[in-house]
Amino acid sequence: MPLSSPQPSRFRPGKLLGLLLMLGFGLGLAWLAASQWQSASSREALEKLRAQSSRLYHFDALLLHVLDAESGTRGYMLTQNPVYLTPYQDGRTEIERTLKLLREGNWADADEQRMLELLGTLIEDRWSLLKLDIEHGPNGNTESPAGGTDKQLTDEIRRILGELRVRTLHDIDHTLDASFARFADVRATNRLLGAGILALLLALAIVLYRQDKLRRRLAGILHSENERLKTEVDARTTELTSLATYLTRTREAEQARLARELHDELGALMTAAKLDAGWIGRKLPAEVMAPLRTRFDRLIDTLNQVISIKRRVVDDLRPPLLSDLGLVEALRSLAQSGGVGEHDGPVELALPDDLPNLPEDFSLALFRIAQEALTNVRRHAQATRTRLALHRADKLIVLQIEDNGIGFDPETSRHRRHGLSGMAHRVQMLGGQLEVLGVPGKGTVITARVPLPEAD
Ligand SMILES: Nc1ncnc2c1ncn2[C@@H]1O[C@H](COP(=O)(O)OP(=O)(O)OP(=O)(O)O)[C@@H](O)[C@H]1O
Ligand SMILES: [Mg+2]
Repeated sequence: MPLSSPQPSRFRPGKLLGLLLMLGFGLGLAWLAASQWQSASSREALEKLRAQSSRLYHFDALLLHVLDAESGTRGYMLTQNPVYLTPYQDGRTEIERTLKLLREGNWADADEQRMLELLGTLIEDRWSLLKLDIEHGPNGNTESPAGGTDKQLTDEIRRILGELRVRTLHDIDHTLDASFARFADVRATNRLLGAGILALLLALAIVLYRQDKLRRRLAGILHSENERLKTEVDARTTELTSLATYLTRTREAEQARLARELHDELGALMTAAKLDAGWIGRKLPAEVMAPLRTRFDRLIDTLNQVISIKRRVVDDLRPPLLSDLGLVEALRSLAQSGGVGEHDGPVELALPDDLPNLPEDFSLALFRIAQEALTNVRRHAQATRTRLALHRADKLIVLQIEDNGIGFDPETSRHRRHGLSGMAHRVQMLGGQLEVLGVPGKGTVITARVPLPEAD
């Protein structure tokens, strides 16, 4: 079944996500810059307002000093009490200081600057007239050095201060208007940026949602594909396992049949031939037999060899003691049928005395496992000690073949040969487990644990 691929779509989540993130970054920067600009311009407007309001305060202070000095002088002239001269005396310094502060201010308008200078001159004139008043009495003079009378000078000072005041108030209004206008701009910008950020978040949420949906869909497809493959692999494995089981059984049956025929048919014929040859040898007169003796003895010898080869082949095909004496004796005979290798002595045995009767295919499988394991020790292990053990543990039969040879890594050797896989398959056929523990340089332990067959 072909893999069902997702419909091609123009939706490219990765690219779009990058774009949205970049846009978000831009909007964030713009928002930061706008709020910076907003706070800087607010601060500037507040400082301007502070300067303008302190300017108003100074204008009022100037007028107050002038009026105080005038009324103090009048009081002095009426009472001749010098206490009344204090505003005249101290006022001058205060006026100087205030005028200095005013001049230091930032006057952008040349008219206003001129008015300020004129104000300084007028106040100076007013002070000169006050001085004359103090020195010569009220009728001593009526004109300032610049030519103005007391009242005219004061009125002019009042007028100029009033004018400056109005202008400053106008400036304040202007500053406030500009601030309000800027606030409106900032609010509009913030609204725009806020809407942009909200739209961006919405778009981001949509992209993430679609990405998640796509991911889940892919995961679903992957999952069902995995399930399909797993089912297929399981079916294949079952098929192969049953094929291997069938082949193993067929081979054993075939070997058994061959062994039986070799034993019964060929064995009988060979024995008959040997008996007949012996009979002929005994019956022929000695003088007839004399020239044939060598050939005749070789014939008997050949017949004996064929019989023993037949026995070995039969034994190889079908373990002889297995059906007659059972698994334990068959294993004992297997272990005793020669040293395992050129380095080693006899195989150490640990076999039970009482083992329940086991079905023949069960015993045969365990025997074949032991046979293959001992062959492996002989071929690969270079061991000086080999041990073959069989015991019953609860409802299990445990067969163990252990050597102290060169060992090996079962993971790397697994696919190379068929001996180990054959053992594993036989154990699996009996519903058990095979453990292969090979430690390079230390030796190998092969353990087969199979459940005891249920007694019928
Ligand atoms: N007792 C052992 N000691 C050291 N190496 C071993 C032992 N048993 C198995 N091996 C290693 O594991 C490999 C696989 O063993 P396996 O019996 O499967 O194959 P084989 O004996 O090489 O060939 P065959 O298929 O004829 O049995 C061997 O080639 C050998 O390298
Ligand atoms: Mg082998």
